[in-house]
Amino acid sequence: MSDDDPKSLPPSPTRRKFLLTSGSSVAASLVAAYVPALAKDVGGESGPAPTNAAPIIEGAVPITLRINGMDHSLRIDPRTTLLDCIRETVALTGTKKGCDHGQCGACTVHVNGKRVLSCLNLALMHDGEEVTTVEGLGTPDAMHPMQASFLACDAYQCGYCTSGQIMSAVALLKEPCGSDDASVKELMSGNICRCGAYGNIVAAIQQVRKNA
Ligand code: FES
Ligand code: FES
Repeated sequence: MSDDDPKSLPPSPTRRKFLLTSGSSVAASLVAAYVPALAKDVGGESGPAPTNAAPIIEGAVPITLRINGMDHSLRIDPRTTLLDCIRETVALTGTKKGCDHGQCGACTVHVNGKRVLSCLNLALMHDGEEVTTVEGLGTPDAMHPMQASFLACDAYQCGYCTSGQIMSAVALLKEPCGSDDASVKELMSGNICRCGAYGNIVAAIQQVRKNA
């Protein structure tokens, strides 16, 4: 039987078998790259894998943030933005990431009572400071008046910008602002709403100001 005889060639794998075997080996190497303990097992080394091991962050620094009245002692990469620290490290996801470039206002939180764009601030810059997110304003059963007013005035559609709008609106109550709608629009101009709920947002803010 010659090499040219197709019967002498090893059986070619089916497409399905190929995908199954190559897919599982790629998955194993990807997982192993992220989980050193598993990499040892894949490589055949013995020994129990540690459980609940905290991720090792090279160059991590300790910081403490007081968020919504609760102290959080954290170790973070010094390049972590306040936004990512709030969302990813502390797992408070009410604060939204829109542009991540200081242009939309979706990430607005309060630091020491003043509004800041959390995507433009490093968490490290606020070590020891007091941060308030939308979760710290009120609860579904006991809403902040601004939250209740947004609800009553239907001041949102998709809701993605809403937490940032509300944080800015609450901060605005303590800022110098004329009584007319134009003044409110000016001070809220850093908060973009792609759904265009601006009219109702201004109405919601004015209602709170009138009742205050
Ligand atoms: S996410 Fe911060 S301003 Fe857009
Ligand atoms: S409600 Fe959709 S972006 Fe503002």
